[in-house]
Amino acid sequence: MPFIDRDFINDLPNRVDIVGLINKRVALKKAGKDYKACCPFHEEKTPSFTVVPTKQIYHCFGCGESGGIIDFVMKYDHLSFVEAIETVAGESGISVVYDQTAKPVDKRFKRYNQIMSELNDFYQNQLKSSSEKNKVVSYAKKRGISGSIAKRFELGFAPPGWTNLFDQYSMNEDSVQDLLSMGMIVPKKDKKDDYYDRFRNRLMFPIHNAKGSVIGFGGRVLSSQDNPKYLNSPETPLFSKSKELYGLYHCRKFSRKIDSILVVEGYMDVIALHQHGITNVVATLGTATTPAHLQVLSRSAETIVFCFDGDKAGRDAAWKALKTSLPSITSGLVIKFLILPQGEDPDTLINKESAKAFNSRIEGAQTLSSFLIEHIKSKVPFDTIEGKTLFLEKSASLINLVNYSIYRQQLIEGIAHAIGQNIIQVEKAVEQSKTQNNQFESTIKSQQNKLNPGLVNKTISANSHSSVKNLMSRMISCVINYPSIVNDPETTSVIEERARNLPKSEVLVELIRHAQVESDLSKEALLLPYKGKERVYLRLQELSTMEPFLSEFEAKEEFGYALTAAEKYYERKSTKASILSAKTHDEEKAVMQSIMKSKLKKTNQKKSS
Ligand code: GTP
Ligand code: MN
Repeated sequence: MPFIDRDFINDLPNRVDIVGLINKRVALKKAGKDYKACCPFHEEKTPSFTVVPTKQIYHCFGCGESGGIIDFVMKYDHLSFVEAIETVAGESGISVVYDQTAKPVDKRFKRYNQIMSELNDFYQNQLKSSSEKNKVVSYAKKRGISGSIAKRFELGFAPPGWTNLFDQYSMNEDSVQDLLSMGMIVPKKDKKDDYYDRFRNRLMFPIHNAKGSVIGFGGRVLSSQDNPKYLNSPETPLFSKSKELYGLYHCRKFSRKIDSILVVEGYMDVIALHQHGITNVVATLGTATTPAHLQVLSRSAETIVFCFDGDKAGRDAAWKALKTSLPSITSGLVIKFLILPQGEDPDTLINKESAKAFNSRIEGAQTLSSFLIEHIKSKVPFDTIEGKTLFLEKSASLINLVNYSIYRQQLIEGIAHAIGQNIIQVEKAVEQSKTQNNQFESTIKSQQNKLNPGLVNKTISANSHSSVKNLMSRMISCVINYPSIVNDPETTSVIEERARNLPKSEVLVELIRHAQVESDLSKEALLLPYKGKERVYLRLQELSTMEPFLSEFEAKEEFGYALTAAEKYYERKSTKASILSAKTHDEEKAVMQSIMKSKLKKTNQKKSS
């Protein structure tokens, strides 16, 4: 992700024509020195949306929406901050200035995008020209996909055969490396430089990012006898399942106004809904909803409706999504749940009933609070005092996940109503549950704040041996996910040295070394050398899923913090050991003096470096 120069960001609004840029999107009329229009952010008949060119701002007297040109474009075009800056600059003929001190945008990304786009064309062409295309076409027809929807989603066909891609690109070593980094070819076991295609004889679904570039693929078998049913691209430098949503690009492109957005589970669900005219839909890519997903979703719409199958797995997934959502609820964001009848998914249901019937299901979706109350109720013997106590405890700990105070209060009232107690009692339970949690966490936090006061993510402590293992796991997880964080030429050798000084750090040190050789290694490539050591490999695979999910910047901070915390832990441990081993008062004094000396030496080293 490129970093944009701070000064450029600050200066951009002064260099562009806010009236012209907004007028491209909403027809403005001159009114004195200002411009007016009907507000695009709420329904109204008389214009109360005003653009003030002298101040470079817009403001709606009806709904209170206001800001500068970047805010407007983010909101109107449903873009992230960086995307909005790039759009505004692009439309004004200004080149974006990227921060030169930040890591330069890697040239490889351009090649990755290029090769993914070529492969997308290749698979689409195969759907038209392969000698085996008939079975795919008839499969798609059987599932109710029309030609135009297939085109909209750029569906393709990966023909049978083990080396279709490799044969096409084997002449060019760079391309082979790119295919490997993108996970499109897989190295053969025990045979270096020999690869096979990941996707064979499958219906192909390209996965686009929000800008519309292809960053990965999903492939479905054509016969129920084959497995696995779906195969997805692995995590790569372009593709992160915890961030991307299938169909987001199409949702934005094909729905003008996105009041609510439906989150479903499968590729086919998204496509079937589009087929029936419901376009405000995305799917998670075979993973649970993450905070990163929620961030994207809440930027795209004010109402998010999570849709899950009615079976146990679906309900569990819905509950998980609820827990992930609680901390993200803010003013103006509504989260709902739609649990479908047992055995149905959006694809089967929309093909059975009309779009109208499905839309009314969406409209009738359960609110988050009602789902929360109903779900906990179903887990306890609610008719007993013990059951109600359990209910109160469980809901109290969930309420503590909510940051938005107005919603918190509403939930408290809802819970009080459900168990027929007064609000004060529920508030007490919430307080109590918070204190219990805090006691557990406060030592951790005070430790961490001392070490690194700016750090946001506080999940670990260095108080015990188990948490020191935790620190090691955390560092490894950060490096696997973002090899680039240990790839800064200025600090790398120091970091490697510090890691080497920690006990039991062999794997971490090895990973740091691999990462230094190539910062854009995919997770798979980074873990490849461990394939032979099954236990280590399994553990590393576990660690490659980040929980909680961090951005590259946060991961870098987290890594630095964990390293320092682990060092402190061992330092304290060795100090304690030497003090304990001192037998006489003089010996104790000598130990203390030598500790003070080494501390002083360290401080001086830091000052001089
Ligand atoms: P259809 O049978 O084509 O209708 O599939 P579906 O979309 O109903 O799939 P399902 O509900 O079984 O799974 C939902 C999503 O989970 C899929 O779209 C995939 O992203 C993912 N998924 C399903 N099966 C597999 C699998 O075998 N392996 C992997 N990696 N992902 C899967
Ligand atoms: Mn399905």
